[in-house]
Parts: sequence; C-alpha cells; structure tokens
Amino acid sequence: MASPQQTVSSPERAAAPSAEQEVPIEIQSHETPLEADIVAGDDDGDSAIDSQSLLSTESLTSSILEYRQLHGRTYANAKTGDYWGPNDERQSEGLDLIHSALTVLLDGKLFVAPINKDDPGRVLDIGTGTGIWAMDFASDFPSADVTGTDLSPMQPTWVPPNLRFEVDDCLLDWMYPENHFDFIHVRAMYGSIPDWTDLDRKILYHLKPGGYLEHLEIGCQGMSDHKELPKDHIFYTWANTFYAAGEKMGRPFTICLDGESRKHMEEAGFANIQETRLKLPVGGWPKDPTLKQAGIYFQAALERDMEGFSMFVCTELLGWSKEEVHVLVAKMRQAIRDRASCPYIVVNIVVGQKPL
Ligand SMILES: C[S@@+](CC[C@H](N)C(=O)[O-])C[C@H]1O[C@@H](n2cnc3c(N)ncnc32)[C@H](O)[C@@H]1O
Repeated sequence: MASPQQTVSSPERAAAPSAEQEVPIEIQSHETPLEADIVAGDDDGDSAIDSQSLLSTESLTSSILEYRQLHGRTYANAKTGDYWGPNDERQSEGLDLIHSALTVLLDGKLFVAPINKDDPGRVLDIGTGTGIWAMDFASDFPSADVTGTDLSPMQPTWVPPNLRFEVDDCLLDWMYPENHFDFIHVRAMYGSIPDWTDLDRKILYHLKPGGYLEHLEIGCQGMSDHKELPKDHIFYTWANTFYAAGEKMGRPFTICLDGESRKHMEEAGFANIQETRLKLPVGGWPKDPTLKQAGIYFQAALERDMEGFSMFVCTELLGWSKEEVHVLVAKMRQAIRDRASCPYIVVNIVVGQKPL
C-alpha cells in the first residue's frame, strides 16, 4: 500500500527544541485539545467506515511457517516467547492502515530523526511487520541500504532492490557487526520486549557513532478532551486489559507512557534524546484536514482488526472466553464511533543518538 504523502501542516504543532539540543524535531503538545469538526448530537460519525520476503532461503525453515492457530487466526512461532498479535491477512491490513494514519500524522514523513537524507546509509527496521515502513523508506531513499526484520515472514516478495527482509528475533543475539547501522527504527513493539534498556543497549552497540534510534509507540488508552470519560468507560477497560496482560507476560504495554521509552534510552547510553507526544485522533472528527485524514485511517485500522489485537491477550493471557472478547470489541467499536467524544490516543516518538 502506498502511504499518503500529505504536507498540510497542523496548527497544533509547536516550536522546535532550543538551539543547544541537536535533534531538531517538531513538538506538538499533547496537552492542547484538538479542534473538532462536529455539531451537537453528532455521535455516529464515521460508522460508514465499516472497514473492511523476501526471505533468505536459509532462514525459511518449515518451523517458521508452522504457525500457531487460535480461534481461526495464525500467530508466529518464536523461540523467545509467544508474540501476541496474529500474522495473517486481516492483521496485516490493520497494520498497513495504522502506517497510513501515522504517516499522515507526521505530515507525510516516515521519521523525525535528523538523519542525513542525502545519504541515509544502513537502515534497520526491527519488528517490521508487513514491511510497509521499510518499503516506503527504501523507495524514498534509493541510495539507502535497508533491512527489515520480523518473527514472521509476512512481508511482500517483490521489494525495492535496496531492501531485504529477514526472519529474525531481535531478542536473540544479532549477527550484525558493531558500529554497523546509521539509523535503526522501532515502531509499535509494545508487549513484545521484556527489557527495553537491554534492547536499546543492543541497538546502541550496532549503531555507528552519531547514528540514530527512533522509537515510536502507540498508546493503549483512548482519551477525550471534549467529554469526561468515567473510570469504567470501555477505553479504560481496554487499556487496563492490555496493561494487565503485559504484566502477566513480562512484556509491558506501558512503553508509550510519558517518559518511559526516554528513560530506557537514557539508561542504555543514548545522547541528545528528544521525546515528541502527538495526539492521533480516532475517526474523522478533527477540523484540521491532516488530523481528520489520520483519524479516518486509524479508525479504519481499529474497525478492521480490534479482534486480532485483543484475542490472544484476553484469552491466552487473561483467561477470557472468545465471546467475552467479542463483547469487548463490540463495546470498543461503539465507543470509537462516538464522534461527539472526539476520541484520540497518544503517540510517543523518542529519538536518541549514539555518542560520537
Ligand atoms: C504491532 S506490529 C508493528 C509492525 C511494524 N513495526 C509497524 O509499525 O507497522 C509488531 C511486530 O513486531 C514483531 N515482533 C514481535 N516480537 C519480535 C521479536 N522478538 N523480534 C522481531 N520481531 C518481533 C511482530 O511479529 C510484529 O510484526
């Protein structure tokens, strides 16, 4: 899927960091309420969105393709522990829609790190999923040498010549040399990593001095600046369910919370760390056209596969029945269609540099 390349700037974006900070990225305060494009009583908007590797031959062993099955969905087989998300077509569609939402949210940009755009060098996308970010990056920067790795071979076979996909578990030792990559990108790996500082240390070791890590995470908690949500609102239930499951498996879903990812990068030894928190609307309620478009994509992603995001987490980790998951998803679907509450979640982006 091609990512939409919108360049409409958002009035919500605030000033860049001060001159002594070396990472010039734009920061939008997530404290600022987003302006809505709705009228009173409008609570059913967007319900119309009822949405619908290249592998090295050595790594394509039969065990990789022997997926786990759960309630009609398939999941990766990982040595280091079960990954909670399916790796099938429906989940892939959801992930690609989230990619579109995030790309629009970033005004058409694929990253905020101040990498050398004339010569990006060696780039690694860990947990690449469908590989859509890596595909777009490799197309935009034909001189870059891009690698995308994932537990599952769920990437396309036909890819730009400067991109390869590898089946690899980032929790195992990496085969790459020290000081190898110029830019490492990590996105939406919540609930996948037992020790983020440990992963960040590994990333630091394999980055060249001066190279960048960019880590983007998506919040689990739906929010509203326009309606007070009671503590028993389904948005709280959803987030608390994921937090509890993350605790149970020892792989937190709280990595998007304010300062979390930054803390791990600091502990690992990164320099010039910058954190950006953005509101990603759910639905087309914002007045700002960029945010409206991002929200439409994000709602479509959730509508497409909230079941996939929650089935393993609820049934295997928390002992729910399949029917209970369907009720949770139905309530979430109703809540994200409540246009009057102008729902959004927070996206957290942290960039750090390997000291020179
Ligand atoms: C929520 S998806 C995000 C995919 C992609 N980064 C994106 O933003 O579109 C998380 C991905 O991380 C992968 N993953 C989870 N644990 C992993 C691990 N230990 N090593 C490599 N990939 C992993 C999963 O297979 C899944 O494709």
